[in-house]
Amino acid sequence: MQKEIGFITGRCCIYSGKLITLCGGEGAGKSTQAKKIFDFFQSENIPCILTKEPGGTKIGLMIRKILLSPENSDIYNKTELLLYLADRAEHFHKVIVPGLQNGKIVICDRFIDSTFVYQGEARGMDIDFINYVHKYILGDFLPDLTLVLDCRPKSGLERVDRDLACGTRTEDESRFDSEKISFHEKIRAGFLKLAEKNENARFYLIDAEKTVDNVFESIKSAIIEKGIIQN
Ligand code: TMP
Repeated sequence: MQKEIGFITGRCCIYSGKLITLCGGEGAGKSTQAKKIFDFFQSENIPCILTKEPGGTKIGLMIRKILLSPENSDIYNKTELLLYLADRAEHFHKVIVPGLQNGKIVICDRFIDSTFVYQGEARGMDIDFINYVHKYILGDFLPDLTLVLDCRPKSGLERVDRDLACGTRTEDESRFDSEKISFHEKIRAGFLKLAEKNENARFYLIDAEKTVDNVFESIKSAIIEKGIIQN
């Protein structure tokens, strides 16, 4: 069924696809699960796209490099926020909207909620400003389903260390990993708060400390429950 999503960057936009976003703290397993969702849809011949923020576009990859490099640990917090929002504008316009208009299920590893939690909750930046810029970039658009992958910061950071040791994660993207544990606790609390409020009934809380396969089973249930695909 086609849906109208109001005005995106000044134009009325009709689309038939759906957006699934994943969020959570460091090492929660989002990227692994995003790939599993993508592989599952592909095996079912469901048209889909796997993408991420920051870094889902050519320009976004350059922005990602600036944002995640430990060399930039002195970045000014307003610069950090504006770069995440710039990455989002580019990505939404060039990847998400075209994907949805082509009827695809877009699976996005991180989206608006990471800005609310990392920059808003943890860095204490102005939520009204974040909302204002999101409205400017996205209009009234919201994801159809947001999976909140919850785990204790200690378990997440241990997973990050294991990924670093086996090379599936690189040191040049480790700026946030080296934040204090109190920062990671704030991140966890921020995502749990969003899941609890469940505005627009789009959130689904997943216990990410279970095995990869068990987490994926919960995700599949959420996808069916929210009507993204039929059982
Ligand atoms: P990831 O690809 O491992 O999730 O890394 C992205 C990092 O950027 C992660 O530490 C969370 C952070 N981030 C923000 O601080 N704000 C945002 O809006 C987004 C999308 C990510």
